[in-house]
Amino acid sequence: MRRGNWHACHDHTGRQWGDEGKGRAVDYLSAQADVTARATGGDNAGHTLNVGEHLLKLHLVPSGILHPHVACVLGNGMVINPVNLVKEIEELRGFGLDVSPERLKVSTRAHLITPAHLALDRASERERGDSKIGTTLRGIGPAYGDKVDRRGIRVGEMLDVEAFAQRFEEALSRTNGDLARRGADLIDIHGAVEQYVKAAARLRPYITDTSMFIDDALRAGKRVVVEGAQGTLLDVDFGSYPFVTSSSPTVGGALTGLGFGPTYVDRVVGVAKAFSTRVGGGPMPTELDGPLADRLRGTGANFWDEYGTTTGRPRRVGWLDGVILRYACVINGFTELVLTKLDILSGFESLQICTAYEIDGERTTEVPASVDGLARATPVYETFPGWSEDVSEIRRMSDLPANARRYLDAIAELCRTPIDVVSVGPERAQLVHA
Ligand code: IMP
Repeated sequence: MRRGNWHACHDHTGRQWGDEGKGRAVDYLSAQADVTARATGGDNAGHTLNVGEHLLKLHLVPSGILHPHVACVLGNGMVINPVNLVKEIEELRGFGLDVSPERLKVSTRAHLITPAHLALDRASERERGDSKIGTTLRGIGPAYGDKVDRRGIRVGEMLDVEAFAQRFEEALSRTNGDLARRGADLIDIHGAVEQYVKAAARLRPYITDTSMFIDDALRAGKRVVVEGAQGTLLDVDFGSYPFVTSSSPTVGGALTGLGFGPTYVDRVVGVAKAFSTRVGGGPMPTELDGPLADRLRGTGANFWDEYGTTTGRPRRVGWLDGVILRYACVINGFTELVLTKLDILSGFESLQICTAYEIDGERTTEVPASVDGLARATPVYETFPGWSEDVSEIRRMSDLPANARRYLDAIAELCRTPIDVVSVGPERAQLVHA
């Protein structure tokens, strides 16, 4: 298949540690889509969307669910907690949204997150002590571990209730043995089986071969938006290992996580915040603390303030790390960038962009492969004059204050990637176009 107008596929991915406002960007992209899909990760991801009066938190279901004409796919590359998926479906229904099996498709080949994975995630984090990863405790790592170890349970197995209940029970018993040896709390197997069998019955109509569904859509000339989760620096290959998630949220993961070829991809949209944020442990070279950090983070009173959607933890914040952003552009081959939260930078006298690192006295523009290297990186900053104007009502790039344009131009140049859209507030309409 050649790239063509009759089958467009967009992919977009967070550019560093997640939290770039991807939900917001995919909400905007999915308004023009027929299908939105998730390819990797599980309910460790979280998007907070502001829809009219409502505040909606999504963890598993793609943001396209908000647009009645869009179908949503949970791809084979995901790890899915079925109990939490049922909860999310109910919550969306409570908002009056149509979440029927015609609109939501769950891959037979996705792997299940079981209570064993939740317990193992907790036990591993506790045992790591001070060097813990800072996971979301959603069982992500252990679920992918079982997948790669070829003993995971897949979503399609829920279709045969008896066989599923038996396999599930065996997996939990095995884990209870392990947990007992490690001195951790044991799983209530009986309760878990009951809960999962119930969830399986509820999800059965949604389970299907999603690769075929996507292929049919693409062949019919429909637009598919693949919604990235996490970010490049959380990628198990390209991230600050071991402080990463256990999947490939970079662009390659979209292909294996859904099952379609690169020939279908027309655009790769990177979502970046106008400054840097991070949840969890591990090095963050441009991290700030004190009053500057408080201004970037917000107080937590607003949903768009920098507190994790999934965990509620205050996010670490800092100046824009251009070294990492350029790295993300290299790894993902972004055709364009969406920059979020430019409005938060109004009123700063000056702004800094990290354009290189100094590591052990050497200057470099590369992201070190080792987490120790990144921990030793001192940022080299370029300083830009700030702007005092409120930008929240601006809708065209040319109407932005000259210093804001200068800041954006510097980012685009550094990354060799055009910035097509900038968000300047939490409302759907608060977007500035090129
Ligand atoms: P896990 O994915 O729960 O195993 O967590 C591994 C690392 O990825 C931790 O640092 C988490 O904070 C981080 N992480 C996982 N998902 C997200 C996300 O959607 N946004 C931001 N950080 C995430």
